[in-house]
Amino acid sequence: MKVTIVGAGNVGASCADVISYRGIASEVVLLDIKEGFAEGKAMDIMQCSSNTGFNTVVTGVTNDYSKTANSDVVVITSGIPRKPGMTREELIGINAGIVKSVAENVLKHSPDTILVVVSNPMDTMTYLALKSLGMDKKKIIGMGGALDSSRFKYFLAKALDKPINDISAMVIGGHGDTTMIPLTRLASYNGIPVSEFLSESELSEVASSTMVGGATLTKLLGTSAWYAPGASVAYLVDSILNNQRKMIACSVMLDDEYGQNDICIGVPCIIGRNGIEEIVKIELNEQEKQKFAESAEAVRNMNADLKSHL
Ligand code: NAI
Ligand code: 2OP
Repeated sequence: MKVTIVGAGNVGASCADVISYRGIASEVVLLDIKEGFAEGKAMDIMQCSSNTGFNTVVTGVTNDYSKTANSDVVVITSGIPRKPGMTREELIGINAGIVKSVAENVLKHSPDTILVVVSNPMDTMTYLALKSLGMDKKKIIGMGGALDSSRFKYFLAKALDKPINDISAMVIGGHGDTTMIPLTRLASYNGIPVSEFLSESELSEVASSTMVGGATLTKLLGTSAWYAPGASVAYLVDSILNNQRKMIACSVMLDDEYGQNDICIGVPCIIGRNGIEEIVKIELNEQEKQKFAESAEAVRNMNADLKSHL
């Protein structure tokens, strides 16, 4: 199985590292526009293999899309993060240009691939890719919910003082500080609702920490996070390539599900060899429905800034 990752920066390289270390794919191609950068990252990762014992072959290329041919999955992490003084429209303008041209290039060489969009603003970039490429909507998946859910589980585990792998929890909605919706009502510790152990105010604090999880790390690191984002992409790619049919919150095009149309936003999905195998419809309560509608409105406003790119 072959995976291409476009953008060999922090998230892309971290993702390549996890995919190879865990043997998720037999071949990983890292592609970057910066001369020699992807080659360097690939060589560094390959030099881990004798110590960590993986057999995945990782190669790096500078903007040579022919080397990405016949990829089963292509991950797009190319783009820039928002810089001080930059408006949202400017960020969208730059990243939309990058995501669109990258997606067109990869499709020329891998027309049947499944595309995983990571670049921010992720829900809007996923919508752009879907609208401009004319691809089957089951094959374009935005990654954000997997990361936000892993952060939610982390904060729940800390509040409960219990092992993180005993926690089951999901975040839906947009991938943004104010748009994501940690589903505290449905979170559980070994099948027992977390509300049995945590007070309303403790749960609300966990939800708030989750929502600013990315911003907290950006403040601490001086740039946005990469280990958990890279691992979250690898988790999603694993479910696709190995047809694990895991339920993962992903940004996907909705067609009446959750009362929304013509929008890519995070909802629970079954992810397998065909991409989005199923959108799982869970019954939200009135408050959650309201939050989801508000989140969709915010994502829609962001999509409006795509203007000339569609
Ligand atoms: P980075 O700056 O470390 O890496 C981006 C890479 O993309 C750079 O190496 C750059 O040379 C490359 N690049 C730029 N234009 C390109 C092009 N046209 N073709 C090929 N490569 C190109 O940034 P980082 O931290 O890896 O983040 C990447 C993106 O992912 C950002 O937009 C960030 O906001 C987003 N992100 C999304 C997350 C999510 O959950 N959806 C989580 C974390 C980051
Ligand atoms: C994150 O959530 C900024 O999307 C990036 O870390």
